[in-house]
Formats: sequence, structure tokens, C-alpha cells
Amino acid sequence: MKKLLSIALAGIMMLGIVGCGGSAAPEESAETPDTEAAAALTGTEGKLIWGTNAAFEPYEYMEGDEVIGIDAEIADAIAAKLGLEAQVENMDFDAIIPSVQTGKVDIGLAGMTVSEERLNNVNFSDTYVEAGQAIIVKEGSDIKSAADLKDKVIGVQRGTTGDEYVSDEANGVAPASVERFANGPDAAQSLLTDKIDAVVIDNEPAKKLVENSEGLVKLDENLTSEQYAIAVSKDNEALLEAINGALKEMKDNGELQAILDKYLNAE
Ligand code: ARG
Repeated sequence: MKKLLSIALAGIMMLGIVGCGGSAAPEESAETPDTEAAAALTGTEGKLIWGTNAAFEPYEYMEGDEVIGIDAEIADAIAAKLGLEAQVENMDFDAIIPSVQTGKVDIGLAGMTVSEERLNNVNFSDTYVEAGQAIIVKEGSDIKSAADLKDKVIGVQRGTTGDEYVSDEANGVAPASVERFANGPDAAQSLLTDKIDAVVIDNEPAKKLVENSEGLVKLDENLTSEQYAIAVSKDNEALLEAINGALKEMKDNGELQAILDKYLNAE
């Protein structure tokens, strides 16, 4: 009993010292270690700032002035596990990796596909979704498969893997031209008004675009097989590991699947 009392007393004294702005190391206090350690994970005072392009339903999109979707829920869940507060930074898709590199944001979480080229600039977490590129056309279009994209005008979101796929000659798509849009909905709009012949975009966002605008259809064929992961600065291995730990927990306990089920249409 006495021992307990003195431990408690020591604890109170230590808290007192910390409270008075003393120089006691944070690790010695009973309360601060977690938040201190968490705050040290990012350069942003207890926040987990995630850079995204919120025009990519169901992964990230606007509802009023709020960013919602699969990635938004993943950001919140990971932040909670790390003792941080998630804060979103909405930007052009091709600005996300540079923003991770310069530390403007802590992570890039944007339905972002792991690629060799991107790995030169950032680290990627373990993957959390399997995806692929799909084709959207107007109802009644003569484009029935990828082979029909030849000599057609194809719309993509600038800087995405869809852009790379149709633009890279090695893939043999051979379009007449590639129109690069700021986001998928802009490309879909252009398709509806016959300015372009097809849109190539990730599979699940393609389904949402078709759902949201009458007169468009998605072809069944998938052009690529891709994995989404979270981009982290090469200078922050500790954050990468912490994120992988949180993701693993979410995979193991079904949390990730529940988030996906909430937003993805049953096939
Ligand atoms: N998966 C594709 C890529 O990584 C497209 C991602 C677009 N994401 C977005 N939030 N707009 O290039």
C-alpha cells in the first residue's frame, strides 16, 4: 500500500514538473508518451494531413464542403489509431506526390496506384485495394472493347495511370489524341457533349460516373491490374511503418472490408 502511494506520489510530482514547463523528459510522464510519440510521426503538430483529389467517387468526393469516401474513412481510422487528427488537403491529382515530397502533406491518399515511376519519388504503404482501368463511352457508341480505342479521342484525368496507359505507345492503344482533364467528372461531361469518344479511368470511379450521368455506359473489360496504396515521404520511415501497422490491423479486424462494403456496389 505504501509502495503504491509513493508510486502515485512520484507520478503526481512528475506531472507537476511537466505541468510547470520543467525539463522532465516526456517519456517519464504517465500521460504524454503517446501523444508526443504520435506528434513526432508527422511534422504537423498532431495532425495527419492527407493530400487528395476529391473528385474520385467512391474513394474521395465532396458532400457539401466535406470530403467523404473510402479514403476519407481510411484516413480517419489510421489517424485515430496513431493518436493523430486527420485533416484533408484537396488539390490537383498531379500535385499530390510533390506535396508529399515537400512535406506540404503527410501522406497521399487518393486511390493512388503504386508504380515504378512514383516509387522513385515516394514510398508506398502496403496495398489496400485492387483496381484497374476501365472504359466509359456514350450509349450506342461503336467502341465495344479496348481494340476500338484506336484512332479515337480519349479523355483521361491528367497524371493518372489511365493517362499513362493510353499515352504510352508501348501499350498499343494508338488513339488519335489524348485529352487530359483536371478530373474524371470533367472528362465525363466532355464525353456527354461528344467532344471526346471515350474516357479511360479507374473501374469503381467509372461505375460511379456512369451511375451519376445518364447516357454513359462502362465496358466490362479491364485494361490494367493495379494496386492502391498510401504515399509517404521517403524521409519518414517511422510514419510508413506506423501506417502499415494500422492498415494491417484494419485488414485483420475487418474494418477495411466494412469501409469498402459501405461504398462499393455489390457486383
Ligand atoms: N489510380 C489512378 C492513379 O493512381 C487514378 C487516381 C486518381 N485519384 C484521384 N483522387 N483523383 O493514377
